[in-house]
Amino acid sequence: MSIVPTLPDNFPSDFLWGASTSAFQSEGALDVRGKGRSVADIRSADSPFMDTRITSDAYHHVEDDVALMKELGLRTYRFSIAWTRIFPNGNDEQPNQDGLAFYHRLIDALVTADITPVVTIFHFDYPQALVDQYGGWANRQSVRDYVRYAKLLFTEFGKQVHHWLTINEHSLLANVPAMNGLKDATATQREQANYNMFLAQALAIAACREMDADALIGPAVSYMTNLPYDHTSTDVLLSKQLEDDVAFITMDVAVRGELPTYYARRLARDGIELATEPEDAVAFKNGRANFLGLNWYATSIFRRAAGKDPRMLKGVMSNVERWDDPRVPQSRWHFNCDAVGLRYALQRVHDRYPHLPLMITECGWADEDVLDGERVHDERRVTYLNDHIFQLREAVRDGVNIIGFCPWSFIDLLSVGDGMTKRYGLVYVDQDNDAKGSCRRIPKDSYRFYQQVIATNSRNVTAMRVTPV
Ligand code: BG6
Repeated sequence: MSIVPTLPDNFPSDFLWGASTSAFQSEGALDVRGKGRSVADIRSADSPFMDTRITSDAYHHVEDDVALMKELGLRTYRFSIAWTRIFPNGNDEQPNQDGLAFYHRLIDALVTADITPVVTIFHFDYPQALVDQYGGWANRQSVRDYVRYAKLLFTEFGKQVHHWLTINEHSLLANVPAMNGLKDATATQREQANYNMFLAQALAIAACREMDADALIGPAVSYMTNLPYDHTSTDVLLSKQLEDDVAFITMDVAVRGELPTYYARRLARDGIELATEPEDAVAFKNGRANFLGLNWYATSIFRRAAGKDPRMLKGVMSNVERWDDPRVPQSRWHFNCDAVGLRYALQRVHDRYPHLPLMITECGWADEDVLDGERVHDERRVTYLNDHIFQLREAVRDGVNIIGFCPWSFIDLLSVGDGMTKRYGLVYVDQDNDAKGSCRRIPKDSYRFYQQVIATNSRNVTAMRVTPV
């Protein structure tokens, strides 16, 4: 055998072509069959557009949606389980049997359709009752409750589910504590919550691997690739530090099983002392991820700006601002279409953790799609998908171990920041911000395009549509 690595020239034949959603953004059925309230449900009650009561009503469309997945040719479907459907108060003595039955029905339907379930254990919908009981993630009790919930899922669904995502976008939760119900938390409580989530994840990973040695389990990481504004070492270092603080910290803790030195330096800078126990170090080492989900949407350019806080990154670094490169197409919400950045990002993750299996668990284009008769001509999304799949294939040819691609989102669903107006779906859902729609499903042009991608293993993706800058 040659010492020179053999490189594939295309996606492997068993590549997991998929699509993603999350529970609170798509299920609706807010008070149905014993479901409790999550922090997202509580926040939505105060929001003019973030209404979790019905959304895309996926709860009542299981069979229709799985049939659409089958027709699309999906080999995998990434979705999340609503913790509060299983334990309405987060840590009830007994699980809610109706909640378990719902997910059994969904998983059975997927498996029957030959679609591999990829399950997110916790996606932005922390049980509000745990915040009320003891302050949620800021309290170490939260570790026990998450692990208990995760173990129940492994026991209930472990025969059919072998791909698990522990926590969706940990760093966003750490940097926007209101999303965990910790709006008024002090800096120390925020970091403690961050730490407790890491510890809970490690313990859950160890428990999962003990029950199913073949399971792939790891976090779904928010990976926004940062590029320096200037070619100065100061700007290059700035963009690297931002990326470490926002994306790599989650990957490093999960994959390496220890807290990175750049994190220790930040804690020291901010005068924060974490409450830890001596046994935690072993727990981190024993609970290492063997797979990473990457939520990758766009590249961002940050530059120095004394005294300004960038949107969403408040508190991480207060001396930077975001800059939109006018040469790169931008969505209305300032996310660009810069597909080469995806290949660059994947190479960097591959360099850091060679051969680790990676799955793109989110990647998508937001738009205000409109119905045109029975069609939705979402040309910009087709362009985005074409170019990102083109570059993803380049990454496969580079030798990056990518096992699947799940664009966000399968159906239109509730955007975290902008309700139902900001659409990402391959399938249009007739729904609006006032929850007045019929929830009828209409496949968009991007659905037909992606159907061809899957059927031909991407042979229809022949050239980039946006010329790289
Ligand atoms: C990711 C989340 O942050 O981005 C999803 O995992 C979210 O839940 C997606 O919907 C897009 O963000 P937004 O704010 O447009 O919904």
